Amino acid sequence: MGDRVIGIQGVLTDITELKLIQQQMVQQERLRAAAKDASSVINRLREFYRQREEGEIFNPINLNKVVEQAIELTQPRWKDQALANNVTINISTDLQEVPSPSGNESELRTVLTNLILNAVDAMPTSGMITILSRLDGESVVLEVSDAGIGMTDEVRQRCFEPFFSTKEERGTGLGLSTVPVIMLTGFGNMMNITGDIPSEVDYLLSKPVTLSNFREALAKVSCK
Ligand SMILES: Nc1ncnc2c1ncn2[C@@H]1O[C@H](COP(=O)(O)OP(=O)(O)OP(=O)(O)O)[C@@H](O)[C@H]1O
Ligand SMILES: [Mg+2]
Repeated sequence: MGDRVIGIQGVLTDITELKLIQQQMVQQERLRAAAKDASSVINRLREFYRQREEGEIFNPINLNKVVEQAIELTQPRWKDQALANNVTINISTDLQEVPSPSGNESELRTVLTNLILNAVDAMPTSGMITILSRLDGESVVLEVSDAGIGMTDEVRQRCFEPFFSTKEERGTGLGLSTVPVIMLTGFGNMMNITGDIPSEVDYLLSKPVTLSNFREALAKVSCK
């Protein structure tokens, strides 16, 4: 009997150790992935600065076309996948004639895609995403908003932090952190993006973007 108890305890200890080893392995894997993500963000920032220093010529962008493309690109998530889960998400647009801001088209698509996917995640039981473009003074404004769960004060303060996510393993927490980077380095003082997420974000800097005013601008970024 004593032997059996020791035997079972031995097995339990083995299982516990195995679980601990597995957990450590998962954690190491996560750390490795996080380090890889972090280095790609840093490389991305370096690349942005290099391009700006080398005077990269940005092309004028047909903003409303990019909005339509982002809506189409994300359709599998906001329409097809949502419908499969009995969730109906609609996207309503009001795209006004606006001047073409200069920038990198695919980066703007990335921004919009991230904002749309966040909006979808914020509406687990159906809802509407609204995308507007308009001119406000000399600034082109693009607004993405949703009627979703909204943000708590803590989330609002931390939403642009790289790796901050409330979605556990479903989210990397990098989606929103790329938005100000792209908007500030790619679009400088030409465009303001607002809506549910970076509402009241003031990207309109009077000076060209440098590392110091980039930090200053990032510090200004706040969610609604
Ligand atoms: N439209 C939104 N409504 C409510 N909360 C949002 C919205 N957009 C972002 N958030 C919050 O901000 C956090 C950070 O967003 P971010 O896009 O950086 O990461 P993520 O969506 O969690 O992960 P990933 O973008 O990799 O899927 C989210 O986890 C969520 O809590
Ligand atoms: Mg996201």
